[in-house]
Amino acid sequence: MEPLIRVEPPGEKALGILRRDAGVISRSMMREYPLVLQKASGVNLWDVDGNRYLDFAAGIAVMNTGWNHPRVVSAVQEQAKYLSHGAFLDFCSERPVQCAEELVGFLPEGLDRVYFSNSGAESVEAAMKLARHHTGRNYFISFHRGFHGRTYGALSLTAGKVIQRRSFGPFLPVVHVPYPDPYHPPGGDPGTCDADVVAYLEETVFRFEVAPEEVAAIFVEPVLGEGGYVVPPPGFLPRLRRLCDEHGILLVADEVQSGCFRTGRFLASTHAGVVPDIVCLGKAIGGGLPFGVTVASDEVMDWPPGSHASTFGGNNLACAASLAVMDLLRDEGFGDRVTARGEYLAKSLRELQERHTVVGDVRGLGLMVGMELVRDQSTKEPARDERETILRHAFERGLVLLPAGESVIRFSPPLIMDEEDIDTGIDILDRVMEGF
Ligand SMILES: Cc1ncc(COP(=O)(O)O)c(C=O)c1O
Repeated sequence: MEPLIRVEPPGEKALGILRRDAGVISRSMMREYPLVLQKASGVNLWDVDGNRYLDFAAGIAVMNTGWNHPRVVSAVQEQAKYLSHGAFLDFCSERPVQCAEELVGFLPEGLDRVYFSNSGAESVEAAMKLARHHTGRNYFISFHRGFHGRTYGALSLTAGKVIQRRSFGPFLPVVHVPYPDPYHPPGGDPGTCDADVVAYLEETVFRFEVAPEEVAAIFVEPVLGEGGYVVPPPGFLPRLRRLCDEHGILLVADEVQSGCFRTGRFLASTHAGVVPDIVCLGKAIGGGLPFGVTVASDEVMDWPPGSHASTFGGNNLACAASLAVMDLLRDEGFGDRVTARGEYLAKSLRELQERHTVVGDVRGLGLMVGMELVRDQSTKEPARDERETILRHAFERGLVLLPAGESVIRFSPPLIMDEEDIDTGIDILDRVMEGF
């Protein structure tokens, strides 16, 4: 395999394109560091100056089966010869129907009605509208540090960074409560933080803020994604499930980031033995094409024809890519391999933690692993600047990583990554973390 970095990035071509980007593209885009992509394959990315990068980000947890998998590429090419846009909201075609049939085969029994859209945010919007329609209730509950997208409904649920909400209000009626993060336990005790959060809902929110009979749904990420790759205690989802059942509230699992075997199971909520009422999928389920999926039971998805749809939802190219991805995910042992690689990655990061005092916490489920950086192990003050410097230096040495939360580095590589590539990435990180 060719060496990683040939020209110190950003090279000349990258700089030229970045200048044009700055002149014409909406300023709301983020540029974590000056990477200008040209092509990708497997677990590698190439920039326009010919540098190769090892990818620990999978295009924000999208390319679970690896970049440009030949079977996904040929499925899309083949489908494009026949029908790409099919106006599925008005006319039926087979690919979306087949895609829905295959998808429900991965899900717990009872989740058997599928609504297709074009992004994670749209899948969340659909879930919000469906929850209101089915329950006849108005309010929602979601979590601080949660991310559900940036359209109005999804943004109303999102409460991760002030910049994402500032100047966009007012929002839909959502009550936000703390996420049970064992490293920063709301209530102070990591062992009981899940029970503490549910008690806060019952004893404070339902008493002073909103009656449970007015709440349509609780939206939860089974593993917190953008907010910092936080794994809640195993009792959390079962407690939420019981609370929802008690009050006739729908439980919505936003698995846009945690789904499609990212955590070693098709749904992260399966680890907790919980069946949500509605599941939102996006990102990896489209194999790199824009795709959103909202799944519920026949009983819950009871809205009438014309009540919700979109021009491109059920797009044939996206469905063909998704079918190819699901074929790959169905390989025997796929989830177990993700679990084994995830444990290997987490173990390697814990070894880094022993050598670098800036590492406060390493946690994860499958290949959804977070490393939180702190200035001081006892105060846990977030090491924000240190994180930016580490990400930038890793990039300059050929390792692509993304941030999450205030001072977390997220590890969400393509799920096909092997131990040798993990070792290469860890070696680069080890070197760039010297001195922090
Ligand atoms: C959990 C979760 N939900 C929803 C979304 C929104 O997805 P999209 O950016 O495709 O609209 C994201 C995106 O990061 C996400 O992580």
